[in-house]
Amino acid sequence: MVILWAALGYLLGSIPFGVLITRAMNLGDLRQIGSGNIGATNVLRTGNKGAALATLLLDGGKGAAAVLIARAFEADGIAVQAAGVAAFFGHCFPVWLRFKGGKGVATFLGLMLALAWPIGLLCCATWAAAAYLSRISSVGALAASAGAPVWMLVTGRADLLVSGVLLAALVWWRHSANLARLRAGTEPKIGQK
Ligand code: G3P
Repeated sequence: MVILWAALGYLLGSIPFGVLITRAMNLGDLRQIGSGNIGATNVLRTGNKGAALATLLLDGGKGAAAVLIARAFEADGIAVQAAGVAAFFGHCFPVWLRFKGGKGVATFLGLMLALAWPIGLLCCATWAAAAYLSRISSVGALAASAGAPVWMLVTGRADLLVSGVLLAALVWWRHSANLARLRAGTEPKIGQK
């Protein structure tokens, strides 16, 4: 059954909302804009805040939905985590975009909120604090994902730790280009092109 929930999670996660929304709103080809990423931060670079917000909520929502659907069908704890982690993989490696997807941050936050809302809220707060202080979205993402395993330990949810460490490692890996730009001092601030 783990495979079934993981497959469902992957399919949900693979819906590239950023690409679909920008295309539907005639905002251009997202992969030719800014960082070329398909997430809300890059949608914001089109100048359309509504499209960015919709992308954020839908990319987060698909991560949450994967977890909540698996849980609603009384999948066991591992299968519920697998559904969430697979949604993250779906966003990063969507079959519809020849496996060239996004960085998974909104999906990560959404699935964390559904898996364990206190940890999800702490991750969102970590993202907001780091992004507010740095004015850089990727700094928020790196801090929030690195914080997840810490918050899991602090809140006594060691059962989530393997998923937390895996997701944090993947978020950092998917931000390799951002890390290089941060080191070079060329990473754009939020909303900057
Ligand atoms: O959520 C993605 C964000 O951390 C970085 O996006 O477009 O600046 O690479 P971007």
